[in-house]
Amino acid sequence: MKCLGLMSGTSMDGVDCAIIDVRPGRSQLRIELLAHRTRPYPPVFREQLLALAQTGTVAEVCRLHVAVGEVFARVANQTMRQAKLSAKDVAVIGSHGQTVWHSPTRVPVPGAGSVRSSLQIGDPSVIAERTGILTVADFRARDLAAGGEGAPLTPYVHYHVFRSRNTSRLIVNLGGIANATWLPRNGSLEDVVAFDVGPCNLLLDGVITQATRGQRSIDRNGALAARGCPRDVLVNELLRHAFFARRPPKSTGREEFGDDYVRRVLQVAARHRFSLEDTLASSCAAIARTVRQSKSWPGAEVIAGGGGVRNRGLLRALEREFEPGHVLFMDQAGVKSQALEAMAFAVLAHETIRGVPANLPWVTGAASPVVLGTVTPGRRPWDVTG
Ligand SMILES: Nc1ncnc2c1ncn2[C@@H]1O[C@H](COP(=O)(O)OP(=O)(O)O)[C@@H](O)[C@H]1O
Ligand SMILES: [Mg+2]
Repeated sequence: MKCLGLMSGTSMDGVDCAIIDVRPGRSQLRIELLAHRTRPYPPVFREQLLALAQTGTVAEVCRLHVAVGEVFARVANQTMRQAKLSAKDVAVIGSHGQTVWHSPTRVPVPGAGSVRSSLQIGDPSVIAERTGILTVADFRARDLAAGGEGAPLTPYVHYHVFRSRNTSRLIVNLGGIANATWLPRNGSLEDVVAFDVGPCNLLLDGVITQATRGQRSIDRNGALAARGCPRDVLVNELLRHAFFARRPPKSTGREEFGDDYVRRVLQVAARHRFSLEDTLASSCAAIARTVRQSKSWPGAEVIAGGGGVRNRGLLRALEREFEPGHVLFMDQAGVKSQALEAMAFAVLAHETIRGVPANLPWVTGAASPVVLGTVTPGRRPWDVTG
């Protein structure tokens, strides 16, 4: 079954699209990547999304919900053309959407008790209409409704892609947020341990953006971080956040590690007159330490993916934390790192239309396994018997 996945993460850097072929295997799904495409958001569009996540009005949420749907649909159609596939070849689209708010712990709502909530925009009706394909979206909502945090959801897919009979693996996604998935050697789905570790590119992008007053938004290839030297006071300041001491299930986002967190870090750096290079190197050191210290990972082969693998400073910091030679890139392990998260939502959509629960309750904190997502019909009749 050919499935298409669409994803934009907390970094809000752009849309990743992947088309995969999924076949049932004995204990794991067999997943083959057929095509992948990344489309960075135009800078003016990204700015609107960043602003929306902080001070957005309902009118803006409403408008950008449809606009993100249009952007996602365009990337989906472009990727299908690139793969020489038409709408009838693709069974389902899984769209993560763009998270604009993630509030996984209970917040009181006067008159209505208390709720946990998470909002991904990118209207699935627009995607289904522009592509003609059955579209699954809002993956997090059902897990939240079942008492979970709605995140992380990719560990289910990490299991199917990376589980090994002979090697224990730690899958580390260096996205806006870093998340870790532990796959013990020859383990089953029940043995998977996973959670959000803390901020990653969210912190690095935030530091360079604030320090240069918006002149630069990323430390390209980690050139500055790699020239800097980690400073203990700054690393300790970064690690003081209460999230790191919390026990899983846990997930996080811009709400906890947004501009205010970065501002505090930059204040400490300014007080000590640390250079931008040292501030970025300290941030990389803190990120690497949170990954290693989040749990004991006996003898793990560490497989790193996500945009952070392009940051030399961050890789160097990870190599310092783990034994030399133990950190691999996903691409070395035969998986296209940039495509993995989009592949994940294609797999999750595949499970949804087959009626297979794909949240891991022991990972998200949900009370039970649930079939994820909301389904928007495509143009073809939807075969519910299949
Ligand atoms: N060439 C690069 N050099 C340094 N950092 C990069 C590079 N390419 C991507 N990144 C970082 O990766 C981030 C995007 O990573 P991604 O895995 O897409 O995260 P998310 O899932 O949050 O969207 C960018 O915001 C940037 O910080
Ligand atoms: Mg991204």
